Amino acid sequence: MSYDTSDQVEMPPVTDWVNDWDWLDDQWGPNAIEIWSSVRDQCPMATTERYGRAFMPVTMDAVAAVANDTEHFSSIWVNVGRPDAPRRPAPPITSDPPDHHGHRRLLLPSFSPKKIAVMEDELREFCRGLIAELDGCATADAAAQYSQHIPVHGICMLTGIPEQDADLFRDWIHRNFQLAPRDNAVRLQVVREMTEYIDALLRDRLANPADDMLTMIANAEIDGEPVDWELKLGYVRLLIVAGIDTTWSAIGSGLWHFSQHPDQVARLVAVPDDDMLWQTASEEVLRYYAPVTMARKVIGETEVAGCPVHPGDQMLLTFPAANHDPAAFEDPHVFQIDRAKNRHVAFGLGIHRCVGSNLARLELLVGLQEWLRAFPSYRLDTSRPTTWANGQVRGPRNIPVLLGR
Ligand code: HEM
Repeated sequence: MSYDTSDQVEMPPVTDWVNDWDWLDDQWGPNAIEIWSSVRDQCPMATTERYGRAFMPVTMDAVAAVANDTEHFSSIWVNVGRPDAPRRPAPPITSDPPDHHGHRRLLLPSFSPKKIAVMEDELREFCRGLIAELDGCATADAAAQYSQHIPVHGICMLTGIPEQDADLFRDWIHRNFQLAPRDNAVRLQVVREMTEYIDALLRDRLANPADDMLTMIANAEIDGEPVDWELKLGYVRLLIVAGIDTTWSAIGSGLWHFSQHPDQVARLVAVPDDDMLWQTASEEVLRYYAPVTMARKVIGETEVAGCPVHPGDQMLLTFPAANHDPAAFEDPHVFQIDRAKNRHVAFGLGIHRCVGSNLARLELLVGLQEWLRAFPSYRLDTSRPTTWANGQVRGPRNIPVLLGR
């Protein structure tokens, strides 16, 4: 695969996170929590001009105010990128009211608690298979050899997308989130490749219907009217980019965290899988290491945290920063595996709240349980680097560990 990178913009490293933030800066991945805290100590909202004007609120109040206000903030552009970036619809995430509701209603039934619960045994078997491949190994990469595979399996089971193309999905995701915001040529190329691939899948389902989500989408209607083909392609593009590296990042962050907290691992493996401690621990992973940051475009004059914002401005929806706001959580920088009150916003809030949260929660819980039970003495291998993805979906991409057996 080749693409023209002549359209790439270079950005210098950030030295002032309040006035010149950049979520693609190399410091973001490993240090985002410290960055948000330092901004919050100075003001509720940072700004940048790197991609046109874009604000970064870091308090729960400001993030919630933007997420809940669809009159002044639009989802037509859900990441902060170059103002001249090409755009393709991926409903419901890129839809505003009133269209949003119909698209969301179409996808929701496939993610119901009942539909997701039946996937548990298969997901556990899949995790055990990945762990079995580490038989005889003293070291591993808990991201490359484990966490990155689990959500691909989940999304392929649910939708009918072929799992053997997993490397293709991960390549699209990497280019879409890490490179495309600074490079329009990459964005166009990724969309072109994904569209071609999904178009063939959906056309195949029209000719050969199966009992899966792809078939449902290929034939989708809203209020008795067929959905545009372009929007059907967008649904599947969204499921691939929203359903894979999000949960892969959450599982990876959990494994990275626990590799440095053997006391917490010991508490967890001492209780059965259905003990509340597992639930509170995985919710705390979601709060503390929330991987997903979205964005909105300002479409009407208004204020956020006392600061005027104007049509055309971009607004980061820093859900992960809101999860570390001391005004919303007691001791937010302490990871408490038994945190009882945990109204985190890792899955967003308002009308766009995550459709896949039941699936993500199951994959995270099962992924953590199987790994921690198989390797209760594993540790981070600090002689090798942990690498992090920056930007919209933040999480560890390599987690070197000593398996401890
Ligand atoms: C830990 C994993 C995940 C996290 C943290 C996460 C987070 C989020 C967030 C923050 C939003 C809100 C977007 C916004 O306000 O603009 C969202 C929306 C969405 N998520 Fe997830 N997500 C995860 C996993 C998944 C999975 C597994 C799927 C399934 C394919 C999925 C599908 C979606 C969809 C379709 C939307 C759009 C909902 C709408 O616009 O109404 N997500 N997600």
